Amino acid sequence: WSRAAAALGTLSLLSGCSFWMDGHQSTIEVAGPVALEQRRVFFITCWVTLVIFLIVGAILAYATLKFRARTDADEHAEPPEQSHGNPMVELGLVGASVLALAIIAFPTLHAIWYTYDVPEAQRENAYEVTATGYQWWFHFEYPHEQIENVGPLITANELVVPAGRPIHVNLRTTDVIHSFWIPKLAGKVDMIPNRGNSLWFEAEKPGYFWGQCAEYCGESHAVMRFRVIALEQQEFNEWVAQQKQPARTVAATAANNSGAHAEFASLKTFKQNAPGYSEKFDVSPLDAWRAKQHPEADENPALIAEGRKLFQQHNCVTCHTVRGQEGVGTTAPNLTHVGARTTIAGGLLENDADQLGRWISHPDRVKPGNHMYYGIGAMKGYVTVEPTGETVTNIKLTDGEVHALV
Ligand code: CUA
Repeated sequence: WSRAAAALGTLSLLSGCSFWMDGHQSTIEVAGPVALEQRRVFFITCWVTLVIFLIVGAILAYATLKFRARTDADEHAEPPEQSHGNPMVELGLVGASVLALAIIAFPTLHAIWYTYDVPEAQRENAYEVTATGYQWWFHFEYPHEQIENVGPLITANELVVPAGRPIHVNLRTTDVIHSFWIPKLAGKVDMIPNRGNSLWFEAEKPGYFWGQCAEYCGESHAVMRFRVIALEQQEFNEWVAQQKQPARTVAATAANNSGAHAEFASLKTFKQNAPGYSEKFDVSPLDAWRAKQHPEADENPALIAEGRKLFQQHNCVTCHTVRGQEGVGTTAPNLTHVGARTTIAGGLLENDADQLGRWISHPDRVKPGNHMYYGIGAMKGYVTVEPTGETVTNIKLTDGEVHALV
């Protein structure tokens, strides 16, 4: 397999997809059982079509050489004996085609059915989440992590799950058809309006995985991304406990913040390239978290209050919710504990002050056509990308506020 994979890798290099073999969206370098099953179909299909290609190519080459026009041919010779119809040859061809299709069809059907739901034997150990597509981001709910008087735990764009356990994902959409795909783990199953779909995946080891919408859904489909962060069960439990805290409480104690996020220390450093979107996209989740700490904001109630005022007065609360704060918007990502996420803007940008300022001030440049661009009108004049004068203070305030709410 490794030799075949290497050969295919060389081919992909030639076709300009050098990251295909060892990339964040590689379907060859799999990290779980569902993607493994899907890769099996890929290789079966490759081998079957390779055999057919070689046979057809050999016959074509033989016929081309054997029956080519010859300069020394006798123009007056009788044409060779003609044959019309050979039932045995025709039956043989039909039989061979049916056989080839069957060899591909059975593993394909098996993989399709296998993808939809956790196998019976593993269902007892499965963990359930619900993913909902929006143009152009993902909303995640944890139905079994209920918060008193609130409802299920909700997050956006980063799906944190326990490693080594089957994860059953209910797939929904609020607008158009999207498709849920984590290349190294599982996919692609559509999120269809008014229809419940599902898939499952299991990350065999803790790690960080790229997700991507795989069904064209409008202007920013290509940048509708998300992340899956698989943690050891114990760390996952800590993450859930931290997420269940209201934003205000956690912001009150810096110690709580750093303790709850030590879980990211166990994750490997990840490197990624997103040309055109970020220059400094090479950071570990732990570093991403550290970079977001704003002790001065935590210690400065006036700064927090001012930032909160900005958040409330400038349309953020119309669409966003931060649990424990004013604001009940449900049309945009839930921002409770947004500071604990490693990325913003639907998995596109590293979650630090620079990128946050860039995102809030010019969302249309990062994600063309996105709805925040229209909602942000009232904020113009408060935040701009130019790091000068008054405006930069307000970026910091806005940023300090968001982190203070973590
Ligand atoms: Cu959502 Cu493409």
